[in-house]
Amino acid sequence: MTSFGCFPAISPPPSLLTRPSFRTRSVLPFQNRFCRFGVKCSSAEAGVVDESNSAAIDVVADIKSERVVVLGGNGFVGSAICKAAVSKGIEVTSLSRSGRPSYTGSWVDQVNWISGDVFYANWDELLVGATAVVSTLGGFGTEEQMLRINGEANVVAVGAAQKYGIPKFILISVHDYNFPPFLLSSGYFTGKRKAESEVLSKYPYSGVVLRPAFIYGKRKVDGFEIPLDLIGEPWERILGAVENFTKPLSSLPASDVFLAPPVSVDDVALAVINAVTDDDVFGIFTIEQIKEAASKVKV
Ligand SMILES: NC(=O)c1ccc[n+]([C@@H]2O[C@H](COP(=O)([O-])OP(=O)(O)OC[C@H]3O[C@@H](n4cnc5c(N)ncnc54)[C@H](OP(=O)(O)O)[C@@H]3O)[C@@H](O)[C@H]2O)c1
Repeated sequence: MTSFGCFPAISPPPSLLTRPSFRTRSVLPFQNRFCRFGVKCSSAEAGVVDESNSAAIDVVADIKSERVVVLGGNGFVGSAICKAAVSKGIEVTSLSRSGRPSYTGSWVDQVNWISGDVFYANWDELLVGATAVVSTLGGFGTEEQMLRINGEANVVAVGAAQKYGIPKFILISVHDYNFPPFLLSSGYFTGKRKAESEVLSKYPYSGVVLRPAFIYGKRKVDGFEIPLDLIGEPWERILGAVENFTKPLSSLPASDVFLAPPVSVDDVALAVINAVTDDDVFGIFTIEQIKEAASKVKV
């Protein structure tokens, strides 16, 4: 079992764990993920007695229909998740205080944007019929604010999702950067680890925790676009090239501030899609595992 900084190891350990196909497990909580339909086929050619009544073929197929609720769907990471989900034909609802974003795009019109605060959410409106909840809730501020948005907000969301029988919960958390314990005890990391424990304890066989480090892409702020990819992409490539030389340094405290590979916002989004669509995926995902998961659903 792996432990993270000053935090106790969370069970199950970080890995791409597999679990039995859900068909062999209790089906009830998962029923809303599938609709079953039957088709009766028959044919009669010249000279052939029509036996359509007796020779009808029953075809029963399982069609998977996903409906994902993204908490913070208009944020930097949340919007990439909504966009990727829409492109995969997944129905998407977003909850955030500011609601629909000001920018436009064909995928934007396909998301159901709901304005609201997670602490006062109308869960009936949001969760009935959902197959997964993805939380991107998190951020910086005072100690109290960080504990609230990284920790409590997610604890509330996990509780609501469990109450409504949503089969999967996916949390965007954070890499620990090899920080020494005194830094990991800040409200930001304490909140994140509290949220992770909640996901993994309430969703032991389907909860997913992604732990990216720096996420790059085009971040939209007040009508402007900040091209974080101009830093993140080359940084990721350079670190990949010198990986063998930098490995020995990774045991140094806080070394991951420079050595943890950045990950593109699109890869984070695709790792989420992989988790939403693959029932056999659960547990904690490291940076490398996020990239691996993303590559599975890349076209
Ligand atoms: N960006 C990175 O490099 C990075 C790296 C590692 C981990 N992460 C983690 O990834 C997650 C997403 O990060 P991000 O950069 O996408 O953050 P972001 O752009 O600030 O997005 C946060 C989203 O949460 C919503 N939100 C905040 N408080 C809310 C509340 N009380 N009720 C409902 N919605 C609320 C925000 O919308 P409103 O303000 O309109 O409510 C926004 O949509 C965070 O948990 C962060 O810690 C980010």
